[in-house]
Amino acid sequence: MIRKAQRVHRYVFANTTRMAADVARRFRLAAEAAIAARGSFACALTGGSAARTLYARLGRERLDWSRVHIFWVDERAVPETHEESNAGLCRRALLDCVPLVPAHIHRMRGEDAHLDAAARDYEREMVSVLGPERVLDLAHLGLGSDGHVASLFPGHALLGERTRYVAWLDDSPKPPARLTLTLPALFAARAIWFLVAGAEKADVVREVIEDPASPLPASRVLRGHAAVTWMLDRAAASRLRDST
Ligand code: 6PG
Repeated sequence: MIRKAQRVHRYVFANTTRMAADVARRFRLAAEAAIAARGSFACALTGGSAARTLYARLGRERLDWSRVHIFWVDERAVPETHEESNAGLCRRALLDCVPLVPAHIHRMRGEDAHLDAAARDYEREMVSVLGPERVLDLAHLGLGSDGHVASLFPGHALLGERTRYVAWLDDSPKPPARLTLTLPALFAARAIWFLVAGAEKADVVREVIEDPASPLPASRVLRGHAAVTWMLDRAAASRLRDST
């Protein structure tokens, strides 16, 4: 599906320090606009290296954090205290450093023995906070070298999901088992930002951006969403035909 009037923006930064500063500034502007328009800002965070390198800088932004709701695009099947936990990573880098309302931190229950129930509950939580349409203002996505986003992996059956917004999988090529937003949830978000740094991502960035027939999960998101922004460091952008 290619939506009409698609807006794709691309920003390339000399290094991750500059990238983090700009991601933080744009995050503040997006939050201010959403709060002015609708009274709150709902953002789904990513895990992986993007969270590790970029999120500490977000906490220096002055904004009305009490109006911000934090969700996640995916979570690994571990408790929040585990070093693999995306929520734990974001908590250490960002959430513990800003005056968020604790009830506005909507964590996926990766520690739950019943991930199917945890996925259903998360979808209910999205409805209760975001309304029946479950529209996030913004979803951050890292990009795996294999083209996965959130926990949607190349060739996986979950890419065919049409109704559920939250799903679980125990056959992730990147262990452990996981909870993840699905393509319908990502398509429903008002904006998607791909946050990608590092030379090891250069080939997949080129495929996703330059190959209109790429079957990769990230390519599906790019083609199916109306408002995508790429934030890349120079190394990740280095194989693009136009890498400026
Ligand atoms: C996760 C992430 C995932 C991540 C990519 C890229 O839980 O792993 O949410 O989607 O963004 O795997 O991760 P790296 O940048 O660490 O390769």
